[in-house]
Amino acid sequence: MLQKLRTITILLLGISFSAFSQNKYAVYLDDTKPIDERVEDALARMTLEEKVAMCHAQSKFSSAGVPRLGIPDFWMTDGPHGIRPEVLWDEWSQAGWTNDSCIAFPALTCLAATWNKDMSLLYGQSIGEEARYRNKNVLLGPGVNIYRSPLNGRNFEYMGEDPYLAGQMVVPYIKGVQQNGVAACVKHFALNNQETDRYSVNVNVDDRALYEIYLPAFKAAVQEGEAWAIMGAYNRYKNQQACHNQYLLKDILRDEWGFDGVVIADWGGTHNTREAIFNGLDMEFGTWTDGLKTGTSNAYDNYYLANPYLELIRKGEVGTKELDQKARNILRLAFRTTMNKNKPYGSFGTHAHALAGRKIAEEGIVLLKNKNNVLPIDLSKTKKIAVIGENAIKMMTVGGGSSSLKAKYEVSPLEGIKNRIGNEAEVVFARGYVGDPGGSYNGVETGQNLTDNRSLDELLREALEVAKTSDYVIFVGGLNKSNFQDSEGADRKGLELPYHQDKVISELAKVNKHLIVVNISGNAVAMPWIQQVPAIVQGWFLGTESGNALAAILLGDVNPSGKLPFTFPVKLEDNSAHSVGEFPGKDGQVNYKEDIFVGYRWNDKQNIKPLFGFGHGLSYTTFEYGKVTADKKEMTTSDKITFTVSVKNTGHREGSEIVQLYISDLKSSLPRPAKELKDFGKLTLQPGETKTLSFTIDNTALSFFDDVKHAWISEPGDFEAIIGASSINLKSKIGFKLIK
Ligand code: BGC
Repeated sequence: MLQKLRTITILLLGISFSAFSQNKYAVYLDDTKPIDERVEDALARMTLEEKVAMCHAQSKFSSAGVPRLGIPDFWMTDGPHGIRPEVLWDEWSQAGWTNDSCIAFPALTCLAATWNKDMSLLYGQSIGEEARYRNKNVLLGPGVNIYRSPLNGRNFEYMGEDPYLAGQMVVPYIKGVQQNGVAACVKHFALNNQETDRYSVNVNVDDRALYEIYLPAFKAAVQEGEAWAIMGAYNRYKNQQACHNQYLLKDILRDEWGFDGVVIADWGGTHNTREAIFNGLDMEFGTWTDGLKTGTSNAYDNYYLANPYLELIRKGEVGTKELDQKARNILRLAFRTTMNKNKPYGSFGTHAHALAGRKIAEEGIVLLKNKNNVLPIDLSKTKKIAVIGENAIKMMTVGGGSSSLKAKYEVSPLEGIKNRIGNEAEVVFARGYVGDPGGSYNGVETGQNLTDNRSLDELLREALEVAKTSDYVIFVGGLNKSNFQDSEGADRKGLELPYHQDKVISELAKVNKHLIVVNISGNAVAMPWIQQVPAIVQGWFLGTESGNALAAILLGDVNPSGKLPFTFPVKLEDNSAHSVGEFPGKDGQVNYKEDIFVGYRWNDKQNIKPLFGFGHGLSYTTFEYGKVTADKKEMTTSDKITFTVSVKNTGHREGSEIVQLYISDLKSSLPRPAKELKDFGKLTLQPGETKTLSFTIDNTALSFFDDVKHAWISEPGDFEAIIGASSINLKSKIGFKLIK
């Protein structure tokens, strides 16, 4: 009996010991172990089929984990302005959930216009919390494709024309998102600068423009932001699809930058199994098979990286080295996100997120013009305000393509203005023009009925009537999220405002001297009426709290401090891509002949005065800049140099000023832009207050990409540090030398 008991005890001990040891030695589950050890351990336990299953979608927005090992499925969501509503398993249309209405944050153009990295962090944290709450582990955003032409339908989703500004602003967004155990998937890598022929257009760009203009924001996202995911673009480069492009994904992203995250294909961007295997794609999404409806079995099995991949391996035509590498990258994503036990729980649709969005919106709105201080509106002298224009009432969170949202609520400009003014003055509305009365996207309906069958003359007559008898006229127009406007899938057809708005604006200007034009857009527009209109505000797509943010600026509760992240050209031909006749290209080819001269770099080179320069933005107060000084006259390539400038608030109210540092290389062996943004800062000053701002730069700010040497180099010689309130409002400069 005793012997029996002893045996049982030993057996039990043995069982529990082996359970314990199994637990202990399941390295992939042990989060005290380094991530790469866990990856190798999990990889060693996986079958060939399990590895392949992870490399492609299983639904519109998900891919398989490893159920047998407790590794959860991967769930993606757009991005980049809010969490997309739930869609059906195999359809684009929304699933009709009633608990997936998100907070819509301002578009990324607005975020860039804050020039404030704290706002970018706040944005990332807030949207990351929303994604986390909804159990998404990859947020498809942010986007940092460079603003090459004002016609690109997707510019509103990106961060402007300057690689340095975009690179600085993208990093905190990524960090904020990833603090939530959600991967930021930076998109669209790379050279996706137009929507026309987007699936196939081949971009011909030389290495200088590639490295100096189109890549730096992605590089910052990878190296400084430590992004866990990146999305391959639709277009081609060197005649190879960007989603499986050996130059972009292998040579640059992995080998030069050391990216250790996952490469996710844009939806439908994968076209070839072998290239996808060998050229660095990890996860295939959105390929245009017919989803679950094709054939007798799951059509996702027909994806390029699904059965066709398995068959090649089984036939011995390709090995498993690349597959293991893909699986490693994907497992790393799992350990960083779904398998991270310490991640927070997130929160969704909260008041705090709405207020974060509002704060970003208020900081990003740009006061473009304010003749005779028409703004802010002085309610003490106001009986009646006319609000005119379709964009005063149109919901902008629905539409525009994949960034379309189902917002919990959206305050329109008219509502915001009315909320703010209450009964302090009368607010009347007239439509002025009819643009697009529609409002639905993939089954999400705005619920607004904006149909209006009156003729343009009738609408104009009504608008002029109310304008004549009002103290102020606020015209809220611009673009919208419909096709050929600020929308994915097509580019704009011209720089002008659509729907006869130019006529409405110039007629309004004739009858009321206090005309304020609010341009809602993510793109520059032509303003042939600029001389007639005293006040112009760049309003962006501002999300949930749009109207409240706009009203706060118009009424002066908030002093505007945003500055433009891209140039407004007077006419299309003033933009470099159009000037060289290379937008959107021909016969499937687009040649970036303007080279590195994109945005203000082109204006400087050609001496073209823009309508509004890059970095421009006014305030309700005024600032006086001191003279810039430097802490040394010469520096070596291993030195740093610091420039200091003082700024005084010379007006009567608190305000913030974005101070910009440009560097000019006075003589170089290769052509260089006249000046380039290399640092910036934002100062908040009380009336009469003076503060100083210092910028410290090193050799990187002096360097350019030498395409023959394939390296960043700087050349000894004379440089200038230029302080500007914008790229065309330069305040002072100081020379310095780079010595050997
Ligand atoms: C867009 C991506 C988006 C994806 C998923 C694509 O059409 O280009 O930006 O993330 O769809 O919706």
